[in-house]
Amino acid sequence: MPSPPPIRIGIFDSGIGGLSVLRAVRRRLPRADCCYIADARHTPWGDRPTAWVTARCTQLAGWLIADGADLVLVACNTGTTQAIAALRQRWPQLPFVGVEPGIKPAVAASQNGRVAVMATTGTLRSARLQQLVATHAGQTSVLRLPCPGLVEAIEQAGTDDSGLRRQLDALAHTLRAAEVDTVVLGCTHYPLVGDALQQRLGPGVQLVDTAEAVARRVASLLPSPGGVPETGTAPHGAGRLRLLNTADPGTLTRAAQRWVQADAQAEALWLPDPDIQDGIPAAARP
Ligand code: DGL
Repeated sequence: MPSPPPIRIGIFDSGIGGLSVLRAVRRRLPRADCCYIADARHTPWGDRPTAWVTARCTQLAGWLIADGADLVLVACNTGTTQAIAALRQRWPQLPFVGVEPGIKPAVAASQNGRVAVMATTGTLRSARLQQLVATHAGQTSVLRLPCPGLVEAIEQAGTDDSGLRRQLDALAHTLRAAEVDTVVLGCTHYPLVGDALQQRLGPGVQLVDTAEAVARRVASLLPSPGGVPETGTAPHGAGRLRLLNTADPGTLTRAAQRWVQADAQAEALWLPDPDIQDGIPAAARP
């Protein structure tokens, strides 16, 4: 009997951050084909209006679906909190999985009732974040810590890491002063520097990254062929990895090698820019 075609997972982020989620997905689903788009032409998304983020996510998801994705993973907290509802509405037959700040596991893990969530401005101001805090925080205090410039510093790391080191020093200082014992990494870029942050904070502070939980969710929504075996590193004959970048492909090739030890030559992807003026998409303008 011919073997069934491999599962195809489409993944996107504003840049290289979603590689932290891709890594977990490839570990759990080594036989699945993954196609990852980084929108480096427009990084960061964190301060952009919701209408823009929604329009861009719709373009990227649309491209992946046209390319044959069986499931689309929005590997970006900013994109998920602002746009995933619109994507599900537009493609009701297709499974979408998003990434949200792990407020619930952080509250459960905290011993001293003080938690911080590091995220982009867009994620922190989203209604979804307020809802997660209202639902799960209870008596635990949740410090919302925007990290302006951190996404850009991570994107640029490799050419010059000094700015990144300075930012991590400053953030660790703020977190220590707030005496939190649990920190939510509420942006998929941040786990890439999780070890460096952990070193600065010491063993008494726990970092919460939801990538493994997201990978489990992806596996649960797919038929079995892509999901065997479920754990371990990808074996020989593993699923194909395709990397696409809306800016310089070489940057993504190097980032994938550096951060998640993934070997693939990235390709350039051209898409028109979202046509949004004053927060209003072209189709809705008079
Ligand atoms: N990785 C994106 C996230 O999880 C970064 C957003 C940005 O580009 O500002 O939110």
